[in-house]
Order: sequence, then structure tokens, then C-alpha cells
Amino acid sequence: AESDLVAAATMLGQASRVVIFTGAGMSAESGVPTFRDALTGLWQRYDPQALATPEAFHADPALVWSWYEWRRRTVRRAEPHDGHRAVAAIEARAPHAVLITQNVDDLHERAGSVAPLHLHGSLFAPRCSACAHPTPVVDDTTPEPAEGRRIPPPACLRCAAPVRPGVVWFGEALPPETLEAAVEAAANCDLLLTVGTSGLVYPAAEIPQVAARCGATVIQINPLPTPLDAVARVNLHGPAADLLPALVRAAWD
Ligand code: APR
Repeated sequence: AESDLVAAATMLGQASRVVIFTGAGMSAESGVPTFRDALTGLWQRYDPQALATPEAFHADPALVWSWYEWRRRTVRRAEPHDGHRAVAAIEARAPHAVLITQNVDDLHERAGSVAPLHLHGSLFAPRCSACAHPTPVVDDTTPEPAEGRRIPPPACLRCAAPVRPGVVWFGEALPPETLEAAVEAAANCDLLLTVGTSGLVYPAAEIPQVAARCGATVIQINPLPTPLDAVARVNLHGPAADLLPALVRAAWD
């Protein structure tokens, strides 16, 4: 409701240490499908939970590599929206703002965010599955992997083992320094804005809880209820691309 937006904007405008925490819903209006909504687009019959695992990659490297190639191409075709730009505006206006994202796309960066903490890695940082040597993303023009078509992963330039996507798979540890920096920011902020996450996947989902436990005000933007409703002081039920710009305007214009 309008009063909720005004209340949230007042808190945001007065906050001295802001954390913005985003999930797949942040990219939904850019045409990048979320994980738990009705699967849309190509490859919709593949369940992300089944492909995003080390076991799946070991069993069928070409299928998993192709799925991530499709996702990277989807991101490359997508554009950041006004919500991404509003996040960059908050980082510019709020003192000591930190952006933490679960997303592996580069839409925040393309909208002007400087150094998001990517808790789950990035589609744009493939590395060797054996020696971890970083492998440049080949911006090739080969046709998009049709559903289920297998493109074998490239071989590592250093040790010839298969290259893997630079994302965190189910069952894998999050990058320790990134997680530590995110927990530190959440524990020391006085306002955490969570946008477009179902709050179901740990340890990432711990971040808003850490902020709330340490006395921060939590504001949530999500069209649907989530477990984070319980810790949010204000729940703005609506899409990120509308509500984030409205929040920034109400807080600083
Ligand atoms: N604006 C804001 N939120 C939206 C929008 C929108 N336009 N559209 C959908 N949402 C919300 C949905 O209501 C849902 O709560 O975005 C959330 C998307 O939830 P998930 O698909 O579970 O994405 P996320 O929470 O980021 O998943 C966390 O799980 O699959 C793993 O590693 C993957 O990083 C991902 C993690």
C-alpha cells in the first residue's frame, strides 16, 4: 500500500548502513527466468535442482555445460531494468551501501552497481573443474544450444580437464571470503532491503535473518509471501521494476 511505501522510503532515507540483498526475482522482468516460478523459456523441462549439481556435471558435462551456455546467452540478450538502476542509485545515495546477490547474471553490473557480492558465483567466470584455472568466456556466435542439445565443455588451457561454470552448485560451499563479507555487512547494517528471493536456499537465506537478529530493519519486495515476511518490518507486495524506482523517488526526490 502507499503508506507502506512511504514508511519504507522514510526508513531507507534515514538509514546509515544499507544492505541490498537480491534473488532471481530481481531479473525476472528482464526476461531471465526464476528457479521456482513456473519454468518458462527454453529447457523448461529440465529441473534446475537436478542440473545444478557436481554429480550432474560429472555424469553429463555436455548437458550441464549447454544448460549454462543457454542461461548465459539468455542473460546476454537481456537488459537491466529500472529496478536494477534503482539499486545502483541506492548504492550511490545511501552511505556504506553493500549489494549482495544470489544471482549469477551480470545485470546489476550492467546497471551501474560496482562490486556486488555474488554469493553463488557468476555465469561469466567459468573455470577448470580440476585446476580451477579461470577460462575466458568465449563470446561465440554458435547457435544457442537447443533444448537438450549437448555442447561439450571446452578443455582447460592449462591442464586439459573440462571447464565448468563458475557458479555454486547445490552441495558446494559458497566462496568463503564472499560469504564472510556478506555476513559481516548484514550483521553491521541498520537496514536490509531484500528483493525477489524466496528465502528458501541456505546459507544465502541466512543473510536477512542475520540482519534482523542484529537489530536491522528488514524491508522486503516480492509479489508473493515468503518465509522472510516474518522478519520484514515492511512487505511491499509487487514487482521489483516498479517498486524499487518508486522507493528511491520517495526516499530521495
Ligand atoms: N519482482 C520481485 N520478485 C519477484 C518477481 C518480480 N518481478 N517475480 C518473481 N519474484 C519472486 C518470486 O515470488 C520468488 O519469491 O522472486 C522469487 C524467486 O525465487 P527463486 O526462484 O527461489 O529464486 P532465489 O530465491 O534467488 O533462489 C535462490 O536457489 O536455485 C538456487 O542458486 C539458485 O540463487 C538461486 C537460489
